[in-house]
Amino acid sequence: MEKTLVLVKPDGVQRGLIGEVIARLERRGLRLVGAKFIQVSRELAETHYAIHKGKPFYEGLINYIISAPVMAMVWEGPRAIAAVRQTMGATRPWEAAPGTIRHDFALEVGRNLTHASDSVENGEAEVALWFKSEELVSWARATDQWIFE
Ligand code: RTP
Ligand code: MG
Repeated sequence: MEKTLVLVKPDGVQRGLIGEVIARLERRGLRLVGAKFIQVSRELAETHYAIHKGKPFYEGLINYIISAPVMAMVWEGPRAIAAVRQTMGATRPWEAAPGTIRHDFALEVGRNLTHASDSVENGEAEVALWFKSEELVSWARATDQWIFE
């Protein structure tokens, strides 16, 4: 089963949207396997966003993600990577489809509320970066047979 790292970034936390994000992922049918509310260190932020180092928005991105607490979560399900990216919407909120989180709640690319892993490989790496294995819960949900074919 695919796992994906989801962050409710500082703007989402400050705006009281943690519950909104969780509600949408739960309703979609994804299964929560880990969650923690943390203040991100600069070191973790720089490792997480290493691929963007050198880009014009990099410094702003690091300062944004460490500016206030984030809600970090791991969600799993069939094709969880694609499904969660779809629920989040396009990176630039003005290009996000109506009904997505970024469309419904955001306007700026640098205040786009959430993060979600963008490939199976990055999902595995990001889950390992943000969570220790003992922080992840492997469980069966009573409704799984009605959601997972
Ligand atoms: P994320 O990694 O946060 O889930 O977002 P994403 O895959 O949709 O977008 P990505 O290309 O990975 O960019 C990471 C984050 O950097 C900020 N960004 N700013 N000013 C800009 O042009 C720009 N481009 C990207 C956004 O906060 C984006 O989510
Ligand atoms: Mg990304």
